[in-house]
Amino acid sequence: MLTKLQLKWKVNETQLWLILLTFAVGGTLSGKLAKLVFGLMGLHFNFIGIMMYIVLVTLIWPFCVLGVSVLTGQIGFFRRYLSTLWSKILGKKKPVRVAIFASGGGSNAKQIIETLHSYPNTMHIQIALVLTNNPNTGVLLVAQNNQIPSAIIYLKSKTECQAAAEYLAIMHQHNIDFIVLAGYLKKIPAGLIQQYPQKIINIHPALLPAYGGAGMYGIHVHNAVVAAAEKHSGITIHYVDEVYDHGKIIFQGTCELEVGETGESLSKKVLGLEHRYYTREVVGVVNKK
Ligand code: GRF
Repeated sequence: MLTKLQLKWKVNETQLWLILLTFAVGGTLSGKLAKLVFGLMGLHFNFIGIMMYIVLVTLIWPFCVLGVSVLTGQIGFFRRYLSTLWSKILGKKKPVRVAIFASGGGSNAKQIIETLHSYPNTMHIQIALVLTNNPNTGVLLVAQNNQIPSAIIYLKSKTECQAAAEYLAIMHQHNIDFIVLAGYLKKIPAGLIQQYPQKIINIHPALLPAYGGAGMYGIHVHNAVVAAAEKHSGITIHYVDEVYDHGKIIFQGTCELEVGETGESLSKKVLGLEHRYYTREVVGVVNKK
């Protein structure tokens, strides 16, 4: 139960206890304050009185939990929590906050960001962060040009556990609901995957399960496909699990290899497929959540 809450709210164990404490203290305080106002208004606990009391508690409660959350250091969580609650009451669907991770040229990230910008308010997705491990990647410029916050993660000499904690801190800071890998070359630590179950997807430039795994990225994949004289190649969009290029497949798109095909020419064809399908699949998967 507590682990489920932790996953749902995307918080660590300490934060979870502080949040529960805030709920308890805030709830008690709002009950006490409502009683005080109730008495000052000279109301009695008859049917109308009880209704008035419920209305009073409901009105006072958000202010009490917000006040207490300042003391427990959970104001950020409660601001988001109350705004989500408010949107639900008004029947508004809040956009899913997506982070794109990229290490290279960022053409997929660019494609996704620009397509979503062309259809604002229709997809219920907000690209809320671009994260990279490579300070020289073009994707940082893409983020800047589209007024999207970006973060650079430095992973050198960090254990998997430290790396997971670092990713999670950034994800929580930006309140990220879903992660899209677009040419991200670092292995995603298990600690991050466990906090985002079925909420991280990747695109691989070949038809998995063939031509996947460590070392199979970029031109290496296409060279291997050409060397094996395959008739087809393509793209695989899949959930990320703890094994490289292994999670459940969401979509595959194929292209043919022609006579004289080279790794270089195949990479262009496959990239064309990526640009054609990744945004569509991202929108589909995110909206199913
Ligand atoms: C793509 O081929 C993608 O499939 C792979 O890395 C490449 C990234 O290209 N995972 P870009 O950085 O989006 O241009």
